[in-house]
Amino acid sequence: MVGAGISTPSGIPDFRSPRSGLYSSLQQYDLPYPEAIFELTFFSHNPKPFFTLAKELYLRSYRPNVIHYFLRLLHDKGLLLRLYTQNIDGLERVSGIPASKLVEAHGSFASATCTVCRRPSPGKDIWADVAVDRIPRCPVCTGVVKPDIVFFGEALPQRFLMHVVDFPMADLLLILGTSLEVEPFASLSEAVQSSVPRLLINRDLVGPFAWHPRSRDVVQLGDVVHGVERLVELLGWTEELQDLIQQETEKV
Ligand code: OAD
Ligand code: ZN
Repeated sequence: MVGAGISTPSGIPDFRSPRSGLYSSLQQYDLPYPEAIFELTFFSHNPKPFFTLAKELYLRSYRPNVIHYFLRLLHDKGLLLRLYTQNIDGLERVSGIPASKLVEAHGSFASATCTVCRRPSPGKDIWADVAVDRIPRCPVCTGVVKPDIVFFGEALPQRFLMHVVDFPMADLLLILGTSLEVEPFASLSEAVQSSVPRLLINRDLVGPFAWHPRSRDVVQLGDVVHGVERLVELLGWTEELQDLIQQETEKV
């Protein structure tokens, strides 16, 4: 399970960190409160802040970092059952983890839907407009087209239901870079069997690790890159991971 904290090393701000987090730097967008940027009622009244954020997130071409490639290495080794991400930056896909291994729980920019007639469209159709600060509109009904990012109160993608099968099957749960504050995602951390070790690598002690710890929980607090590099070292994978990163960087 991962969240915005795995993408801060790529230069993307997380949401809730006190000074650097996105929610504390949204003043320029004229929002009544920060979370409104992901709320349908606000979006229908003023979609501009969301599209400004979308442009910032998606058109700046951020690169995956060592954490994404660690997850990719887990996949290459046949050890990744599934990667549940809350992130909408798409960096898990860019790192080469196949879509079949991913559950993008809060959606992605890969597809979009008209907010009025519900016509689906490929996500790429919006970028020509977004790049020049124009609100993308439906070619059929002129309604605003919204990327399929899950807003507060919206249903999660169908694939999220895979957790019902995945979590009871897991024999290790890694939780990296998330505040575990947003439901229903956060509660997945309770969905592995009680005998299954859960490893949290994060700056802060969060969610059930703080208020309902289990005897087999392991916590590595501090910088997530440092924590992951330490784990990789203990696994004896340091060189292999460096090779993978070099190979992928050369591709770019
Ligand atoms: P948050 O911003 O709530 O939490 C990020 C967590 O990562 C915090 O606990 C940070 O301390 C930690 N963190 C950040 N950088 C770190 C670093 N370099 N090293 C170690 N820890 C670090 O982000 P999420 O939990 O992902 O919804 O937020 C969940 C959802 O809230 C998001 O998916 C978003 C938002 O509303 C949508 O995008 C729809
Ligand atoms: Zn339409």
